[in-house]
Amino acid sequence: MAEVKKVFPDGFLWGGAVAANQLEGAHQADGKGLSTADVSPNGIMYPASEDPSELNLYHKGIDFYHRYKEDLALFAELGFKCFRTSIAWTRIFPNGNEAEPNEAGLQFYDNLFDEMRKHNIEPVVTISHYEMPLHLVKQYGGWRDRKVIDFYEKFARTVLERYKGKVKYWMTFNEINVVLHAPFTGGGLQFEEGENKLNSMYQAAHHQFVASALAVKASHEINPEAQIGCMIASMTTYPLTPNPDDVFAALEQDRKTLQFSDVQVRGFYPGYMKRYFKEHDISFHIAEGDEELMKKHTVDYIGFSYYMTFIATTDEAKLKEAAEGNLMTGVRNPYLKASDWGWQIDPKGLRTTLNTLYDRYQKPLFIVENGLGAYDQVEEDGSIQDDYRIDYLRAHMEQMREAVADGVDLIGYTAWGPIDLVSASKAELSKRYGFIYVDRDNEGNGTLERKKKKSFDWYQRVIATNGQDLS
Ligand code: BG6
Repeated sequence: MAEVKKVFPDGFLWGGAVAANQLEGAHQADGKGLSTADVSPNGIMYPASEDPSELNLYHKGIDFYHRYKEDLALFAELGFKCFRTSIAWTRIFPNGNEAEPNEAGLQFYDNLFDEMRKHNIEPVVTISHYEMPLHLVKQYGGWRDRKVIDFYEKFARTVLERYKGKVKYWMTFNEINVVLHAPFTGGGLQFEEGENKLNSMYQAAHHQFVASALAVKASHEINPEAQIGCMIASMTTYPLTPNPDDVFAALEQDRKTLQFSDVQVRGFYPGYMKRYFKEHDISFHIAEGDEELMKKHTVDYIGFSYYMTFIATTDEAKLKEAAEGNLMTGVRNPYLKASDWGWQIDPKGLRTTLNTLYDRYQKPLFIVENGLGAYDQVEEDGSIQDDYRIDYLRAHMEQMREAVADGVDLIGYTAWGPIDLVSASKAELSKRYGFIYVDRDNEGNGTLERKKKKSFDWYQRVIATNGQDLS
């Protein structure tokens, strides 16, 4: 191994990240209600279906609900310092608006966090990850209704209080900016004919900002030792050319993402947003006290996902050369290779993103998702030789190392989907991210047996050497 200076601080949180709805399965166990994820024919699509025959693969997941002990033992073998998961809102409040929480649901997460603690794995918990009770969509139209803030606050307070001795790291909403790109997934929004969609999306986002501030307030009251962060899908954007128009287009596109962290980290709507609202006929309701609340209860750290970068241009012809992207399309970058799903692989962009976020906010950063979705092949001898995944992760970690050397305060890294799970954008299992293979196909068939891939040993060594040995 080439000599590499120690870069990652002691206590760096190496681990993996998942979302309840993408792996737990057991969608009606112990009183769980239906969520938007259970009925969405494809993770990011709407309208949803309520016909149970159209339930997608989410409702089966990989049966983590019943197998979490076995899976956590494997994570412990990997050496995980932390494990990021979310709490399914519908296990705690099946319809979202009950007076009392569902004890069986609460107990499940007690057991899960206890098991993690048993293995010295620190839980990192997203309060809401891409799902909300379906009932709140039917009854209130999702996050466009202010009442949903109260339901979320109650849910958040319930779990913050219940798990205060077990969970130290929280995040309020997964990829909060996704409400603009996948409004059903991000905000439970379905639109009426002729509705001002942009206005509804920003209204929903505003309600989530207020809800997030309330969760931060609750967390600080309940356990001042805990850390509660925001979580954005990073979408760092390059100009296609040095044409100042392209440069400004890139800045504006970046702001579509950064506006979400700006509000949650700084506590107010920046001037550029106010101008955008004015020029796009966006005039959502801000209640008295909202702005004060948002200003007062800002987040402790910034969690973000990183999969790729984007390009902006004002050249219409170039815009048509779209490359598939994470929940949105962009322009193909000739300098980058793409994954099997067209996601452009850009390790250096991670260093740029880390530096940009740190320069902007000077708050601790946490990479809570990163990884390669790929088709894996089980060889005749049963092995899975996923060198492409190792290469992807190594290249990103090298850039993390650079960013830390640049002075960025990075507290952890959780690889997305350490065990294969259902894809968010495809609702299928063949897009695999794991170090651990799960025998289940897109139709939900398979033994559910877990198998270590080649990347398992590699990541184990990375963690054991605190990121010094990436070979
Ligand atoms: C992020 C989401 O956008 O990307 C995850 O927070 C998701 O829920 C991940 O699974 C990877 O996306 P996909 O579509 O490959 O599962």
